[in-house]
Amino acid sequence: GDTLTVLGLESSCDDTAAAVVRQRDGARPEILASVVKGQAELHAPFGGVVPEIAARAHAEKLDICVEAALAAAGIGLSDLDAIAVTAGPGLIGGVLSGVMCAKGIAAATGLPLVGVNHLAGHALTPRLTDGLDFPYLMLLASGGHCQFLSVEGVEDFTRLGGTIDDAPGEAFDKTAKLLGLPQPGGPAVERAAEAGDARRFAFPRPLMDRPGCDMSFSGLKTALLRARDAVIAEKGGITVQDRADLCASFQAAVRDVLAGKARRAIAAAPVGLTALAVAGGVAANRAIRAALEDVAAEAGLPFVAPPLALCTDNAAMIAWAGLERFRLGARDGMDLAARPRWPL
Ligand code: KG4
Ligand code: ZN
Repeated sequence: GDTLTVLGLESSCDDTAAAVVRQRDGARPEILASVVKGQAELHAPFGGVVPEIAARAHAEKLDICVEAALAAAGIGLSDLDAIAVTAGPGLIGGVLSGVMCAKGIAAATGLPLVGVNHLAGHALTPRLTDGLDFPYLMLLASGGHCQFLSVEGVEDFTRLGGTIDDAPGEAFDKTAKLLGLPQPGGPAVERAAEAGDARRFAFPRPLMDRPGCDMSFSGLKTALLRARDAVIAEKGGITVQDRADLCASFQAAVRDVLAGKARRAIAAAPVGLTALAVAGGVAANRAIRAALEDVAAEAGLPFVAPPLALCTDNAAMIAWAGLERFRLGARDGMDLAARPRWPL
């Protein structure tokens, strides 16, 4: 029949993941299993992801994740129709670990291999979770990425704009660091911002005065550093309230940029958009979510935010993107390359 069952592997950053997704004849796809093993504790002492440590951890954990995913799905390798693997973009050591693991399974079983672009995995997730039809607008906002994509087909993406420097999650993380808050910075800054006054510090809304959907977040970090130091110079230290006001003012600036540029991206996208969708860790932020929801409502569009576990890095999105590509006839050979850079 037309039922497809695909194993997906993800290892392009600091999460090792394996998942099984199944779709029966035109029905909504099901996630049979999704296993994610993070590496945060391995990298924490170094204050950032160390590529060599990540690659080694992926190589050690991939097999375990695959076994765990198959066991949780209650299936064996012989029940699969294909193996999908992130072939880039990302840290080369990690991507290579995943591609080699997938090739090993393909060689042992004869199963076809499908290479998946990690960004396409994020971008196609709303079809997995909400059955969205093309075209829709996707804002991908994480610790490593920030872009508006018009998603027009399984292999048809138009990048409408993106950050020209830092990703917004990175800006949240650096803000937390500058204010002595724990990592990952996003949730910590959001929590602190709840008690803060967003109007106390007038942070810039970079590039909002320029046309287009490009964004910039690195200047915000500098503005925050200056504001913090001005408070310290004036009072000899910063209070809990100062910190809350800095966080609230910073978060409001990021929110305004993402929402303002989302409005422009909707205007620049093809007619007939079915939704505004988001993915990436930053999509967890309630203030940012609420602002994007308003922008979608203004444009008469549904706002789609997949569950957080499917917004952040995972292998279900890779299995699903692989399944969609496989249905269209995509097959990769043993020469599938790992690509550290791979724009959509
Ligand atoms: O998608 P993700 O889990 O990983 C990648 O970057 O690929 O995103 C993680 C990023 C981190 O920078 C984190 O600080 C940010 O998402 N983040 C948030 C929130 N939760 C996570 N940023 C703002 N508000 C949040 N609630
Ligand atoms: Zn990602």
